[in-house]
Amino acid sequence: MNKTMLVTGGAGFIGSNFIRYVFERTGFKGKIVNLDKLTYAGNPENLADIRKKYGERYVFVKGDICDFKLLGQLFKKHNFDTVAHFAAESHVDRSIFGPKDFIETNIHGTFALLETARQTWLATPGGAKGKRFHHVSTDEVYGSLGKTGKFKETTPYDPRSPYSSSKAASDHLARAYFHTYGLPVTISNCSNNYGPYHFPEKLIPLIILNALEGKPLPVYGDGLQVRDWLYVEDHCAAIWRIINKGRVGETYNVGGNCEMANIDVVKGICAALEKFSPSAGNAALGSKKYLGLIKYVKDRPGHDRRYAIDFSKIKRELGWRPSVTFKEGLTRTVVWYLANGVWVRSVRTGEYRKWIDKNYKR
Ligand code: NAD
Ligand code: DAU
Repeated sequence: MNKTMLVTGGAGFIGSNFIRYVFERTGFKGKIVNLDKLTYAGNPENLADIRKKYGERYVFVKGDICDFKLLGQLFKKHNFDTVAHFAAESHVDRSIFGPKDFIETNIHGTFALLETARQTWLATPGGAKGKRFHHVSTDEVYGSLGKTGKFKETTPYDPRSPYSSSKAASDHLARAYFHTYGLPVTISNCSNNYGPYHFPEKLIPLIILNALEGKPLPVYGDGLQVRDWLYVEDHCAAIWRIINKGRVGETYNVGGNCEMANIDVVKGICAALEKFSPSAGNAALGSKKYLGLIKYVKDRPGHDRRYAIDFSKIKRELGWRPSVTFKEGLTRTVVWYLANGVWVRSVRTGEYRKWIDKNYKR
């Protein structure tokens, strides 16, 4: 297995970290085809280093996972033994303002991939032996927790936003393809990731960059909503382990054992910035400190109150556990954003879109 892997959404945040992780950290000797539509969240430059270093072993294809014809061609041409499916519309706020793309990509796109894998893999003499379709999903499918308890793999689905509902639908489809057709599917439901290449609409990178620019730091509602934070590389390691050692047909919850109220995350970012880029030397802040930029704003509609993951199954069965503490992960993240001004500027100004339009036609 793992000779030729299709990674969908590999130009996004977690997908690009995953491709880098597989090439650099696992001893992988095969080829990766990265299929990505390059929506606003996809930036092929996230993998510029990998493209240079791995040459023909890394292939980028600009395209839509809803495109059956393209999927059929790619499966035929590359004879994939593994699919790692990340592509999605991923931002909850955007799903509230415009759910359509979420339904298209997250539900129809996942269906197109499953169906192509079924038609291609199950039609060959060996069937789906040695193949694996891993579907990357979210803890948000489980809904919202009260003050106690954690999400287990057996927690009933109760999604609340168009985003989480579309991910729930895709999980059900993936499971159905295992039960009905015997497609070798695994699923992971993970908590909030953070780290390098995180698109700055999400809380952590948004707060880092707004703070450096002296802009308000928006905290929704009372800021006491709780998320369970996981450093992105730990998520990549979990997915790799599930693909290689996980039991077919199974779901694995992945989490950071790191419950934090949003306001404490924001304060933690301010403290890290004071250490690595003090407000006193930042002209954009005048006489203010980073903490002084915090601004409570209108809450997100239907805002889930608390998420927490019970990851005892993946720990017990596959020996995975988070390895990076929040303090260490946040330091790495803040330092990365400070050191990668070119990437930040091109994403913040939209410059990278012009570059994509020029270089990636389809
Ligand atoms: P992202 O928004 O950063 O990246 C998504 C990528 O998918 C982008 O490169 C985009 O161009 C691509 N894409 C979107 N629509 C496409 C389409 N129709 N065809 C092909 N490519 C398309 O998202 P992310 O944060 O990296 O999340 C990746 C996956 O992990 C998603 O499935 C998400 O639901 C899941 N997940 C994310 C988190 C998190 O904290 N970010 C946590 C758990 C699970
Ligand atoms: O739990 C996993 C999910 O985590 C993934 O499935 C999603 O793809 C990913 O986007 C993330 O969803 P969240 O909605 O939790 O992430 P976000 O960064 O948007 O928000 C984190 C928390 O911070 C959430 O409670 C909302 C709050 N928030 C967010 C933003 C953007 C703010 O208070 N202010 C903000 O400006």
